[in-house]
Amino acid sequence: FSDFLTDTFNRQHDYLRISITERCNLRCLYCMPEEGVPLSPPAHLLTTPEIFYLSSLFVSQGVTKIRLTGGEPTVRRDIVPLMQSIGTLRSKGLRELALTTNGISLHRKLDSMVEAGLTGINLSLDTLDPFQFQIMTRRNGFDAVMKSIDRILEMNKVGANLRLKINCVVMRGLNERDMIPFVELGREQDIEVRFIEYMPFDGNKWSQGKMISFQEMLDIIKAKYPALRRVAGHKNDTSKTYEVPGFVGKVGFISSMTNDFCGTCNRLRITSDGNLKVCLHGNAEVSLRDLLRKDNGGEPIDQEAFERIKQIEMDRRDGFLGNETVLGWGERERELLEVIGG
Ligand code: GTP
Ligand code: 5AD
Ligand code: SF4
Repeated sequence: FSDFLTDTFNRQHDYLRISITERCNLRCLYCMPEEGVPLSPPAHLLTTPEIFYLSSLFVSQGVTKIRLTGGEPTVRRDIVPLMQSIGTLRSKGLRELALTTNGISLHRKLDSMVEAGLTGINLSLDTLDPFQFQIMTRRNGFDAVMKSIDRILEMNKVGANLRLKINCVVMRGLNERDMIPFVELGREQDIEVRFIEYMPFDGNKWSQGKMISFQEMLDIIKAKYPALRRVAGHKNDTSKTYEVPGFVGKVGFISSMTNDFCGTCNRLRITSDGNLKVCLHGNAEVSLRDLLRKDNGGEPIDQEAFERIKQIEMDRRDGFLGNETVLGWGERERELLEVIGG
């Protein structure tokens, strides 16, 4: 493993998240205002060859997992060719190629994505009720999402082996009642449903009252499924994993607000305009795009760039929370959370 991707806490950063667009076709209450988010000028965004180039660079340095995120990554028109190119890195050490999506237009592109090497999908869905869906996302599209889920399960039946997780942000007064039907999905299906604590982003009108903590979620689910029990998860998981004995699926909790997981964080992030961010909680960034576009005729990133990246890796400690939790933070620090990137 290249020491270039190892930080001062000896955490090896082998998981790269790349945001490929800021745009989205939904307007989830907890994420975006109705008018959407301000978009960067197109020339500032990474091109497909640039994303491919950076992916190969990071894979050559030890990254084994790449996740494409957004915004909503499937609204980027060339997502399939992009995935095809990144998929070729399997022969260079890439083991997982994953996607975080809302599933609205996934069903149309899924087959070619799987052919390109897609291995996992995290699907954002907060309710199994079509009316509630419209309230939480401010858009229609529930049937399209269901179609995508059906297609994933169908493909798995014929050996596609796609790892499917559902991300469900739980908000008080909106969808806490949806938790039980989601757990129920796992009775027959190999799906991991992860319940996420509602986090404050700039302008999402967060309040502690609207957040349901991990402990409270656990109590609600245990009241219905008393046999729910903790099981070992995967190394570097952001979630705590549980199961209901006899169910095929799993239940997870992402408790970013009451219990941080910085100690095992192995993520690197590239924003859609090409900034490398090592920590969600820190604001150190380096523009890989500018390094790539430097007046060197598109020459590969040079030694100087490697040094800059290494330095920002070291700065990762600035965002390290130790045993503190996000709830113990001040207002300013919480604002930094807005950079989560889909
Ligand atoms: P896998 O572990 O591969 O399933 O991916 P993931 O869980 O990191 O990715 P996903 O895009 O599905 O994100 C799920 C949730 O994890 C998001 O809602 C974020 O709240 C949270 N998350 C992801 N990365 C971080 C992180 O580094 N720090 C914090 N605090 N939250 C994160
Ligand atoms: N709090 C918690 N999770 C959020 N997500 C988006 N906004 C928030 C928020 N305010 C989740 C989405 C998506 C994941 C990448 O981030 O549900 O699944
Ligand atoms: Fe779009 Fe995901 Fe944000 Fe919802 S949470 S508005 S699907 S980016």
